[in-house]
Amino acid sequence: MAKIRMGMVGGGEGAFIGAVHRMAAALDGEIELVCGAFSRNAERARRSGEALHLPSERVYTDYKTMMSAEAALPAEKRMQFVAIVTPNHLHYPVAEAALRAGFHVMSDKPATFNLQEALQLRDILGETGLLYGLSHAYTGYPLVKEARLRVAAGELGAIRKVVVEYPQGWLADRQEDADNKQAAWRLDPAQAGISSCIGDIGVHAANLAEYISGVNISAICADLTAFVEGRALDDDGSILLRFDNGAKGVLMASQVSVGEENALKIRVYGEKGGLEWSQQEPNTLLLKWADRPIEILRTANGYLSPLAAANTRTPTGHPEGYLEAFANIYMAFIGQIRAFENGVALDERSADCPGITEAVRGMNFIENAVAASASDVKWHTLPNY
Ligand SMILES: NC(=O)c1ccc[n+]([C@@H]2O[C@H](COP(=O)([O-])OP(=O)(O)OC[C@H]3O[C@@H](n4cnc5c(N)ncnc54)[C@H](O)[C@@H]3O)[C@@H](O)[C@H]2O)c1
Repeated sequence: MAKIRMGMVGGGEGAFIGAVHRMAAALDGEIELVCGAFSRNAERARRSGEALHLPSERVYTDYKTMMSAEAALPAEKRMQFVAIVTPNHLHYPVAEAALRAGFHVMSDKPATFNLQEALQLRDILGETGLLYGLSHAYTGYPLVKEARLRVAAGELGAIRKVVVEYPQGWLADRQEDADNKQAAWRLDPAQAGISSCIGDIGVHAANLAEYISGVNISAICADLTAFVEGRALDDDGSILLRFDNGAKGVLMASQVSVGEENALKIRVYGEKGGLEWSQQEPNTLLLKWADRPIEILRTANGYLSPLAAANTRTPTGHPEGYLEAFANIYMAFIGQIRAFENGVALDERSADCPGITEAVRGMNFIENAVAASASDVKWHTLPNY
């Protein structure tokens, strides 16, 4: 079986998540980076491609040229999918161009600039029949998968309460004025969209809450704030959640929680038990019971599910982390591409990849969080798309 050929848009020198995508894609030896349009600056795009040892004719200075030039190559040479790792406003136009040229898409989140684009993207996917993955990387952790399966098996009983928090502290002062380009575009409405905090990290928290609990957020009561003076977009949010099974929850996301790193943590409580998982201790999952002590599950042990095992690479006690979780998203997506090409059904691992459903749900959540916060009406029902 040949490696799957990947192209990349964004992720040039000095970029953050593009390099993470490349490491994750490379981890299992299944994917080869064959081309890219790494920057909007032509010189930087060229330098970035050179540093990655790509042949100069496969390093493009704009993504539209990349799509047409790759489509013109022989089938066994051209890229098979593109990873989109640009700021948010380009996710949709790049995805559209890629799908129209016949390429599958792996996009970073938030899926698009606004909800309307996400709905259009869903239509294009329907028309083209091509594949779409969304890198909600936290769902790639083996113990997050274990948590989801335990809830689905009814071990906790009917879910009543979900508490999810994603505090960061890196935007507690005006980093956007301090030559921090990641901060600058995240706080620019023309590049980020209508939200900074909820669009950047709140959407991960909402996705994780739905993934693990197996129930969907149906209504929200939101309070978003731009604490740092001069910001057009929120840097903090507190959101009450109602789920479609009657469960209730709390989502906290913040970029101004001084001293916090990427302290994503979730607690889920059902009628019979609870669970707790934290991304800063990702190889531990706590199960909590009324009549016995807390149970501590650890990555790579034989008592975990086949799905958790399939998403684990090293033996017990050798910690796995963010890059491996990200690589698990890629392995699921690659499984989808191979199944697509061979005309076979998806296995459990390949089916377990965030896609266009999560894209639409995420954009729906962001738009309604902003609308709810601006409104005096207490509860906002999320429309069903
Ligand atoms: N899944 C996650 O956990 C996660 C984590 C961080 C960032 N992200 C998402 O990834 C995306 C990128 O974030 P980042 O922090 O890496 O940003 P970044 O600013 O570090 O990188 C963006 C890159 O896109 C390039 N770019 C801009 N316009 C371009 C164009 N027209 N053509 C080609 N390249 C272009 C820039 O030159 C830069 O290399 C964002 O959408 C962000 O929300 C996701």
